[in-house]
Amino acid sequence: MASIEQIGKKKACVIGGTGFVASLLIKQLLEKGYAVNTTVRDPDNLKKTSHLVALQSLGELNIFKAELTVEEDFDAPIVGCELVFQLATPVNFASQDPEGYPSSKTLAEKAAWKFAEENDIDLITVIPTLTIGPSLTLDIPASVGLAMSLITGDEFLIDSLKGLQFLSGSISITHVEDICRAHIFVAEKESASGRYICCAHNTSVPELAKFLSKRYLQYKIPTEFDDCPAKAKLIISSEKLIKEGFSFNYGIDETLDQTVEYLKTKGVLNK
Ligand SMILES: NC(=O)c1ccc[n+]([C@@H]2O[C@H](COP(=O)([O-])OP(=O)(O)OC[C@H]3O[C@@H](n4cnc5c(N)ncnc54)[C@H](OP(=O)(O)O)[C@@H]3O)[C@@H](O)[C@H]2O)c1
Repeated sequence: MASIEQIGKKKACVIGGTGFVASLLIKQLLEKGYAVNTTVRDPDNLKKTSHLVALQSLGELNIFKAELTVEEDFDAPIVGCELVFQLATPVNFASQDPEGYPSSKTLAEKAAWKFAEENDIDLITVIPTLTIGPSLTLDIPASVGLAMSLITGDEFLIDSLKGLQFLSGSISITHVEDICRAHIFVAEKESASGRYICCAHNTSVPELAKFLSKRYLQYKIPTEFDDCPAKAKLIISSEKLIKEGFSFNYGIDETLDQTVEYLKTKGVLNK
C-alpha cells in the first residue's frame, strides 16, 4: 500500500458517500492518505451520515450536499480531484420488477461510456457482484440482507435470491473490502482501462445453502429448492482484473464468517 509520502496529498471525490461500498471506499482512501470530498443527498440526516462524520478523524474528509439529477451540485465537490468515484444509485434488489435494477445499471453504464467518449474523460468501470461483509452504515445494506437471507430465514428475500439466480445464472459473491480495493487499484493503475468485473466466488442458492448449513450448525437453513438449478449456469470471471495485478484478500469462508459476525453485532442473528 502506497504511503502518504509516495502519493502526496491526492484528492478524490466519492459520489454517494453514505452507501455501503462508498463509505468503506472513503475509509480506504483516507487510510491511503487521500484527501476526500464526498457527496450525500442530505448532510443533516445523521442516521445516514454519522458514520461519515466518524471517518473525519482519519483524515481530510469534506461532505457536500448533491442530488444526482442536479448537475451543478457536483461542481464544487470535484474541483481539484484527480479521481472521481461514482457509486450513488438507488439500489433495490427486492423490487417488484426483477429486471428493473440490473437494466438501470446497464443503461447508466452505457450512458457513462458515451458521455466519457464525447467529453474526453478517462473512465473505468468496476462491475461488482453481490457484495457482503461488515458495513459502516447504521442500517444493514440491502445486498447483505439478500445474500444472508438463507441464514436469517427471510422468505421474501430468499425468493429474491432465487430470482437473482434465475435472472443472472449464478449467485456470485465478493467481500466489500475487495470491491473497494479493486476500485482504488484500477483508478491508480496507469495501464488500467475499460471495464473490470470484480467477482471472488460463484455459486448457486442450493450450493450456498449447503455450505452455510455445514458451516453454521446453530442456524436452521433450508436446503431443498425444487425449482432452483443446483449449479451456477454462469461463471463470472475476474480474469482481466487479476491479469492487471489485482488479488482478492477474502475467500468465501472468511467473507461469510465476517458477515455472520457482523449480523450478530446488529442483533439479526443470535450469538
Ligand atoms: N451492494 C452490492 O451488492 C452491489 C453489487 C453490484 C453493484 N453495486 C453498485 O455499487 C454501488 C454502491 O452500492 P451499495 O450497495 O453501496 O448501495 P447503497 O448502500 O444503497 O448506497 C447507494 C447510495 O446511492 C445514493 N443515492 C441513491 N439515489 C440517489 C440520488 N438520486 N442522488 C444521489 N445519491 C443517491 C444513496 O444515498 P442516500 O444515503 O441519500 O440514500 C447511497 O449513498 C451502486 O452503484 C450499486 O449499483 C452494488
